[in-house]
Amino acid sequence: MKNFEFYNPVKVLFGTDQLKKLSANLSPYKRILMLYGGGSIKKNGVYKRVIEELSNFTVFEFSGIEANPRYETAIKAVELIKKENIEFVLAVGGGSVIDAAKFIAAATFYDGEDPWDILAKNKTVKKSLPIGCILTLPATGSEMNMGSVITRNSTNEKLSFLTPFSFPKFSILMPEFAASLPQRQVANGIVDTFVHVIEQYITYPADAPLQDRFAESILKTLIDEGPKVYENPADYNAMANLMWCSTMALNGTISPGVPSDWSVHTIGHELTALYEIDHARTLAIVLPGIWKALRNEKKEKLLQYAARVWNIYGGSDNEKIEKAIQKTVDFFESLGIETQLNKYQLGKESINIIVDRLENRGWKAFGDRQLVTLEIVRKALEYQL
Ligand code: NZQ
Ligand code: ZN
Repeated sequence: MKNFEFYNPVKVLFGTDQLKKLSANLSPYKRILMLYGGGSIKKNGVYKRVIEELSNFTVFEFSGIEANPRYETAIKAVELIKKENIEFVLAVGGGSVIDAAKFIAAATFYDGEDPWDILAKNKTVKKSLPIGCILTLPATGSEMNMGSVITRNSTNEKLSFLTPFSFPKFSILMPEFAASLPQRQVANGIVDTFVHVIEQYITYPADAPLQDRFAESILKTLIDEGPKVYENPADYNAMANLMWCSTMALNGTISPGVPSDWSVHTIGHELTALYEIDHARTLAIVLPGIWKALRNEKKEKLLQYAARVWNIYGGSDNEKIEKAIQKTVDFFESLGIETQLNKYQLGKESINIIVDRLENRGWKAFGDRQLVTLEIVRKALEYQL
């Protein structure tokens, strides 16, 4: 096992009625910015319930955070924060609203020329406003991690940053707030969570059986609970299980001491930035291709995955790996998520554009052991044509 540091200070308030604890957890702050998206919280009653709990605070609102949050929008919230001396940012929504809150909170104190440099030039965040979350969509794990992904319209770039300042002070996870999700978003949440685990699991053996078992338990829970919550997002227990899987998949629990990859996300972000394909759907396209392109390099973990997650024991190693990839594709497609580029009206030209973009950015190789070269990116995507 590799050396590691583990740190996660996020307080999680999970289950029914947790919203009652909001005001106690916001103390001692008085001036709160409530950040939200395109209006789902007004339709499903979450907005009204949150506002009721905030009666003792001075509340400002900033709405219109897009799915795949935009830099151009976030920067307007920074202006409001400075003008109104806001002390705390409360994100009410899915990963996009939470990610935007993290960026807005960091950009408020950024002392360089352009806060975009936090993402584009890895500029260090030295201070941030505190943030809290009320989660309405289980998927990203952003509610309990220090990551954020922001898109810039003017350049069509989608980039991420990590800083311990981004850890929320608290996150309220009430599965009933996700009951109003359309099936499409539930499916996205299941697949995003699944691939988060994979990015930290299908690498190479690191003699870390506990981390492997954690990863496998989340995958198996998703395979069991995913179809139930996809069929009925109002099934409280199934949604609670998905929500906790999503949080646990990306809060640092399964990654200490083991290698991770993240190449599927890196390539997927290009597909979203260029073609506006939902984040999870890009992962469902890229993952099978990466596994096919790197089946030898990732062989040991793929065989472990085949046996322990899908109970595949018969046949040659190559056949077992093929079956495991097919099982994964079938699982994604059973949730209505297509895995081939042509199903998104994309062909070979899109592959050239993606490879050129990565090359122009100077990214020669990434992923675990730097296995994902530009040639592997091309090969992986060609498998998915
Ligand atoms: O904007 P509103 O009207 O709220 O509608 C949203 C949005 O259209 C809707 N929605 C959310 N909760 C709802 C609901 N509709 C009905 N009922 C509810 N309860 O769902 C749509 C999608 O929301 P969004 O927040 O964009 O989805 P998600 O949580 O999947 O977040 C995706 C973003 O997170 C980033 C992705 O790249 C993408 O930008 N990620 C962030 C990560 C992190 N911070 O750790 C890791 C992930 O890998 C991912 O990259
Ligand atoms: Zn993701």
